[in-house]
Amino acid sequence: MPSKELRVGMIGYGFMGRAHSNAYKQVGQFFPSDYRVVLKAACARDAAKAKEFADQWGYESVETDWKKLIARPDIDAIDICTPNNLHKEIAITAAAAGKMILCEKPLAMNVAEGREMVAAVERAKVPNMVWYNYRRIPAVTLAKKLIEEGRLGKIFHYRAKFLQDWTINADLPQGGQGLWRLDVAAAGSGVSGDLLAHCIDTAVWLNGSVESISALTETFVKERKHNLTGKVEPVGIDDACIFMGKFSNGSLANFESTRYARGHKAQYTFEINGEKASLAWDLHDLHRLQMFDYKDEGKIRGWKSIHVTDNGGEHPYMDKWWVPGLAVGYDCSFTHQVADFITGLETGTPAGPTFRDALETQAVLDAILDSAKSHQWVQVAKG
Ligand SMILES: NC(=O)c1ccc[n+]([C@@H]2O[C@H](COP(=O)([O-])OP(=O)(O)OC[C@H]3O[C@@H](n4cnc5c(N)ncnc54)[C@H](O)[C@@H]3O)[C@@H](O)[C@H]2O)c1
Repeated sequence: MPSKELRVGMIGYGFMGRAHSNAYKQVGQFFPSDYRVVLKAACARDAAKAKEFADQWGYESVETDWKKLIARPDIDAIDICTPNNLHKEIAITAAAAGKMILCEKPLAMNVAEGREMVAAVERAKVPNMVWYNYRRIPAVTLAKKLIEEGRLGKIFHYRAKFLQDWTINADLPQGGQGLWRLDVAAAGSGVSGDLLAHCIDTAVWLNGSVESISALTETFVKERKHNLTGKVEPVGIDDACIFMGKFSNGSLANFESTRYARGHKAQYTFEINGEKASLAWDLHDLHRLQMFDYKDEGKIRGWKSIHVTDNGGEHPYMDKWWVPGLAVGYDCSFTHQVADFITGLETGTPAGPTFRDALETQAVLDAILDSAKSHQWVQVAKG
């Protein structure tokens, strides 16, 4: 039986508010630990909507001001599920109040903000984590294990794509509920911070630091009506972004993201080519990891599709779920992240990515926008 409580204060009731709440509810059932997660309070500006969300997910109470939520002595951890422009202020206030912080990605609007956030959590010595959840899809975690075992040998290429198609309509407004992603003041950037951030986090985790990059961005629809002002305003985000680069280990990076790839809803893919083997993964088939191993016998050598559902300890996280052959989904990546966060509390070894880890992704994101603007190769800033 758990002997401790982890009392969560959730800020935001949107897509991620739901995904995280689901994870908090699942984690104790599938990943028993010393901690019992208590959904203490949900916070949003609209009291009625916050109450509806709290009732649906089982939060004990409601706040309409995140500062009041942070000030509450009965809350241990603040979960930041708001648009990107609020991450910094909330995180710094929460750190100063001694709260643990689980912050959505990207960490910040830019690396300067990110540095302030890292300084705040490290000064306050509070446990902290950023929700780069794709690391914890079992097939992606298995890729990490195979790379660490040296099965790929020297890595030559890392290529990743994250494709969507939901902003092609030029009549779609920008700003406000649901559409803050198109508003540079709320989002900081477009597909780079929203989608490529995930690809970069996974890449840095699997293949090490990105040293330098050359990027190209495009904004296909240059003006959109703004929901908050009612006026047609310039669009300040990148609608599409392509970059090439070099990792510290000498391998080459080739990344693309867009919201203009008609037919694609959320196609995140990566492929890694090493001297001994290659790996490939596709979010649309998330429980499979594709592998080509050159050491296989010649006449049967070829790409194999590993169904990452073994529960005998071979496949990450799967021993906690069902029986071999039965897959888990997108939602479980968040459950795994909470489980690892709790393990970090128990062992004293924090689960990544911490704010400091996520700062590295933020530095790559800044370098992308710098390079696209200057048309120059850009060195990625350190820490
Ligand atoms: N890890 C992932 O895969 C993933 C996926 C989607 C979004 N995200 C990130 O999660 C964050 C939220 O995205 P989302 O898709 O959930 O957005 P959303 O629009 O669905 O929800 C945002 C929530 O923030 C609330 N909010 C806004 N301003 C507020 C304020 N001042 N006080 C309290 N609440 C406020 C809104 O009411 C809403 O409930 C973003 O940083 C985004 O980049 C991460």
